[in-house]
Amino acid sequence: MLKKGILCGVSLGLLAGCSSLDSLFEEKETMVGSPHVGKLAVPVVTVVEEETWEAFFEKESEVVAVPEELEEEPETEEEPVEPADEEKPEEPSEPEAIPVVANPGAMNVMVNKFWSLPEGYRPGDLIKPNVPFSFGDENSDRSKLRAEAAESLEVMFNVAKGEGIELYARSGFRSYETQEAIFKNEVATFGYEQAVLYVALPGTSEHQTGLAMDITAKSVGLELVEAFEGTAEGKWLAENAHHYGFILRYPKGKTNITGYAFEPWHFRYVGVEVAGEIYEKGLTFEEYMGDVREF
Ligand code: DAL
Ligand code: ZN
Repeated sequence: MLKKGILCGVSLGLLAGCSSLDSLFEEKETMVGSPHVGKLAVPVVTVVEEETWEAFFEKESEVVAVPEELEEEPETEEEPVEPADEEKPEEPSEPEAIPVVANPGAMNVMVNKFWSLPEGYRPGDLIKPNVPFSFGDENSDRSKLRAEAAESLEVMFNVAKGEGIELYARSGFRSYETQEAIFKNEVATFGYEQAVLYVALPGTSEHQTGLAMDITAKSVGLELVEAFEGTAEGKWLAENAHHYGFILRYPKGKTNITGYAFEPWHFRYVGVEVAGEIYEKGLTFEEYMGDVREF
């Protein structure tokens, strides 16, 4: 199996610009009913009318340097590929209308391939937890989480340390624009099909909620790799994170439900009660919310 290492830290010398996405996300909103039965969401349908994904990916993009803070997403197991015309059918010919959650600020907000955040959403209570970071001391977006999640992360890291488990935070909050740049680069490097397995479309990433943190350890070179699952740190997190309100959001073998590949490093804060139930019952977040779709 090929190593799944950090892509962006080594290979993102250049990145296609994002200005061409602007018109793609011009949206029209209409209210619809909520499938989040009893779970707070009142979605708003977002219809993208102007352009298609195909048109977007065919556009020539301005080339810009990648900010350091974008260097977060793991490599896929595939070799880099040149985007080719033959791959285009893998992309949706029309952009999907992705409903917008009505509860973006809730601790149990569910964003995924079927639910997005309101345009430009940015939580107002982002703080930097006092934990070790893979990139050292830096007061940037990626070092932040929403206050409740940040405080709980701190407790979790401290308890882990007391048990000989040294954890490092690697990627916390991401703005819409940062996610957009990461996604676009992933598509350009690995192709659309691989990109959508590992990187959320802008507006649909849990990192934009300020409630998700990618966590790693020195045992895997502070990278985000599948091998983290077998490390003492990865095992400790998988078994204990729920005590601090975090869930392993993209479990192994659940791609058909979550839409994403196994990510043993991605932990999502949902609160202790919800996390406990999800852990005890062995559920995905989608199953817990009663909103499982077919892929
Ligand atoms: N890697 C997760 C799916 C994200 O991009 O939010
Ligand atoms: Zn993540």
